[in-house]
Amino acid sequence: MHVKTDVFCAGSIILPDKAGRQINVGGWSLDSTFGVRLYTPDGSAGVNGTNDWEEDGKLLKLQRGRWYPTAAMLPNGSVLVVGGEIGSNDKPQPNLEVLPKPVGGDTVVELDWLARTDPWNLYPFITVLPSGHIFIAYYNEARILDAKTFQTVKELPNMPAAVNNFLGGRTYPLEGAMMLFPQHAPYTDPLRVVICGGSTPGPASVLDNCVSIAPEAQNATWTVERMPSRRLMPNMVALPDGTFMIVNGAKKGVAGFGLAEDPNLTALLYDPALPVGRRISILNETIVPRMYHSEAILLPDARVLISGSDPQTPGFAEETRIEVYIPPYLNQGLRPPEYNLPNHDWAYGGTYTINNIKLYQGNIANLRISLIAAISSTHGNTMGSRTIFPAIQCSGTSCTITAPPNAFISPPGWHQLFILDGPTPSSSKWVRIGGDPAQLGNWPQLPGFTPPGM
Ligand SMILES: *[C@@H]1O[C@H](CO)[C@@H](O)[C@H](O)[C@H]1NC(C)=O
Ligand SMILES: *[C@@H]1O[C@H](CO)[C@@H](O)[C@H](O)[C@H]1NC(C)=O
Ligand SMILES: *[C@@H]1O[C@H](CO)[C@@H](O)[C@H](O)[C@H]1NC(C)=O
Ligand SMILES: *[C@@H]1O[C@H](CO)[C@@H](O)[C@H](O)[C@H]1NC(C)=O
Ligand SMILES: *[C@@H]1O[C@H](CO)[C@@H](O)[C@H](O)[C@H]1NC(C)=O
Repeated sequence: MHVKTDVFCAGSIILPDKAGRQINVGGWSLDSTFGVRLYTPDGSAGVNGTNDWEEDGKLLKLQRGRWYPTAAMLPNGSVLVVGGEIGSNDKPQPNLEVLPKPVGGDTVVELDWLARTDPWNLYPFITVLPSGHIFIAYYNEARILDAKTFQTVKELPNMPAAVNNFLGGRTYPLEGAMMLFPQHAPYTDPLRVVICGGSTPGPASVLDNCVSIAPEAQNATWTVERMPSRRLMPNMVALPDGTFMIVNGAKKGVAGFGLAEDPNLTALLYDPALPVGRRISILNETIVPRMYHSEAILLPDARVLISGSDPQTPGFAEETRIEVYIPPYLNQGLRPPEYNLPNHDWAYGGTYTINNIKLYQGNIANLRISLIAAISSTHGNTMGSRTIFPAIQCSGTSCTITAPPNAFISPPGWHQLFILDGPTPSSSKWVRIGGDPAQLGNWPQLPGFTPPGM
C-alpha cells in the first residue's frame, strides 16, 4: 500500500461509515504532520484487497500539524484529534480540532494544560464517558471535558506513579497503556479506566504498577495495583471474555529511539472481574522482544496479533516478524462455539437476534456475548477500545441482544461480536452500532476520494 506523506507517529481510528474506513491523521514531518489519509478495507478471507490509501494534502489536511496526536470518535459521530507536537521532539501543539472541518470554520481549541505538561503528554489517552463527557489522561494528570466546548468539567487527582518518584507519568515518552473496564448492561456502574506501566522523567525508572479510576464516581480516586515487574511501552488488548492481555515493552528507560532496554517477554492477563490485588496473572512468554513502536490487536478468531518494534537499541533489530498469541481460552482443546448474525447494522437500543448457535461444551443458559470495538494500536494507545456485555435473552439456538442504549455508552462504530461457551470464544462477526450520525460516509467530496455514501 502507498501513502503520499509519512505516517510515522500518526493517530488512527476506524470510522463508523458503512465501509468501516480507517482514518489516519498527522505524522512526521512538515506536510506529513497535516496528513489526513483514508483507507477503505476490501478483500476477504483468501482474497487480496486492491484498495489503496486516499490522500491529497492540497485538498484535505488537518488545521494544525501534529506529530503524536490521538484520534477519537465523539458521541455525535465527528472525529476528535488531540495534541502532539509540531514536529519530532519540537514545540508542543497544545490544542485539539474536530474533523470534518466545517466550511469556513476553525475547530481548534487551545488547551493550556497540554502546553504546561509538554513534552510528557503525547498520544494522550481519550475516551467518551457515560455522561457524554470526554475523559483524557496525559502525563500524570487526567480531567473530564465537555464534548461540545472541550472546556474542563472536572480535574481529577494526579495519577500516582512510584513511591520514590511522584513525577512519573503514563503517556509518551513515559508510555503506559490504557483500557476501559467492560461495560455491562444496564450500564449503571460508572465506567472505570486502567492504565498500566509508564516511566519517570529524569532517572527513567520504569513503573511497576497499574492505576485505575472511575472518573465519574463520587470522590473519584486512583487505585494502585502492582504488576509482577516494571513495564514501559506495554501493549494492552481487550479480549472477548472481558479480560486484557498485557504484552511487549521494556523494563528500563523511556520510549523513543535508543532510549529503552531490557525487554520482558512475559505476557500478563488482567481480569477486571477479580478483586483489586488479584487481577493480574502471569501468562506464557511471547517470542520476539518488542519495545518502541510495537502493536497488538485482537484477531477475529480471538487470537492476538503482535507486531512491530523498531527501538534502535543496540542488539535489537527493526522487527519485521509478526506473531500470533493464543490466549489460554483457545488452548484447552475445546471447540469454539458458532453462530449466525443476520443483521450487521444496529441502532441504539434496538433488539437483534443471532441464531443457529452451536455450543460444543456448555449450555445456552450460561452463554455470554461481548462486543469489542474496532481499534487502532500504536505507542501503547489503543484508540477506540471498548468492551460491552449487552443485555441478552437466549433460548434454544438463538439469542436476542439489546444494543447499547446511546452514543455515550458506546460511540458510533464497528464492533466484533463474540459469543462465549464457558471460557471459549467464537470467531467474531462485525456489527456496526449507532450508524453514522455525522454522515462521514459522504465525506470528503473531493477528487481522488471515494466516500462510501450513507
Ligand atoms: C495475495 O498477495 C500476496 C502478496 O502479493 C501473494 O503472495 C498472494 O499469493 C496473494 N493471494 C491471492 C489469493 O491472490
Ligand atoms: C460534534 O461536536 C463537535 C464539537 O462541538 C462539533 O465541532 C461538530 O461539528 C459536531 N458534529 C456534528 C455532526 O454535529
Ligand atoms: C465524598 O466526599 C464527601 C466529602 O468528603 C463525603 O461527605 C461523601 O460521603 C463522599 N462520598 C463517597 C461516595 O465516598
Ligand atoms: C518478566 O516479567 C514477569 C512478570 O511481569 C516477572 O515475573 C519476571 O521476573 C520478569 N523477568 C525478568 C527477567 O525480569
Ligand atoms: C509457551 O510458548 C512457547 C513459545 O511459543 C511454546 O513453545 C510453549 O509450548 C508454550 N508453553 C505452554 C505451557 O503453553
